[in-house]
Amino acid sequence: MAAPEIRRVGVVGLGAMGAGIAQLAIQAGYETVGREVTDELGTKANDRIAHFLQRKVDKEQMTTAERESALAALTLTTELADLVDCDLVIEAIVEDLGPKLELFAELERIVRPDAVLATNTSALSVTEIAAATSSPERVVGMHFFNPAPLMPLVEIVRAELSSDDAMDAAFAVGERMGKRPIRCHDTPGFVVNRVLIPLLNDCLRVLDEARVSPEDLDTAMTAGAGWPMGPCTLVDLVGIDVHVHASEALYEKLREPRMAPPPRIVAMKNAGLLGRKSGRGFYTYD
Ligand code: 3HC
Repeated sequence: MAAPEIRRVGVVGLGAMGAGIAQLAIQAGYETVGREVTDELGTKANDRIAHFLQRKVDKEQMTTAERESALAALTLTTELADLVDCDLVIEAIVEDLGPKLELFAELERIVRPDAVLATNTSALSVTEIAAATSSPERVVGMHFFNPAPLMPLVEIVRAELSSDDAMDAAFAVGERMGKRPIRCHDTPGFVVNRVLIPLLNDCLRVLDEARVSPEDLDTAMTAGAGWPMGPCTLVDLVGIDVHVHASEALYEKLREPRMAPPPRIVAMKNAGLLGRKSGRGFYTYD
């Protein structure tokens, strides 16, 4: 398969990550189709993107005309069929294998045979997701970091059967979005989460072991280790449910005790304390 030139990008799922990825795509000048399951969720994502682009205008990082033309490049839809002309589709839906498999099988029926399909999964296997299609060579991982518009890295993940063309096309899109892409293979947690998830779990265990408050733990890691934000603030940003899910997925695959989510954070997830998105996690948000 020769990779197509990427002109039109589809983003499926416009939650915090998907909206961030769609923002990057329109900022990079791609015609972009964003798909959410309801019009309300699509409008919410559009408002979020419009807000962050306005902040860029306010700070003179972008002109009003550039903001308007970026926003005009984004088409919202609730229909997967509207992704028909996309050269690259990036999936950023719920982190569950079942829905992702269904989506990839459906996307394959909709887009052209040479379109590249990418998943933003954090901790699931790209190879397993690719196996839902009959053309796994066009499937790769494009793993962005939260908040996607701000974090420079994107991991371009090679699944067992990914083609060089699909990898190169995804890498080039990452570069055009202004990111610093790296290539890696489809191993549990890829590069960053393989290191970061157990590290964050260690931090959360220290909360109880050293009997420190979340505030003091955050101060310890920002003021003592130079982290840009403390571990409790970071887990609240990433989402406590997302962190627990990624920990469980890595523990299931690697069986390393440090990967397992500490009971304290599992209890928080079960109580609906999901961090910023639910208004309450280690901290409370407006
Ligand atoms: N989307 C788009 N734009 C955003 C945004 C978002 N979510 N959040 C902030 N911005 C924009 C805003 O316009 C903001 O300016 P404003 O306040 O004037 O409106 C501007 O970006 C700068 O924001 P900040 O002042 O908050 O930026 P900081 O300089 O404080 O840096 C940070 C913020 C980059 C998030 C920094 O704190 C950081 O690097 N934190 C670590 C984050 C991290 O480790 N992420 C990885 C998580 S792991 C992961 O994602 C993997 C996954 O698989 C679980």
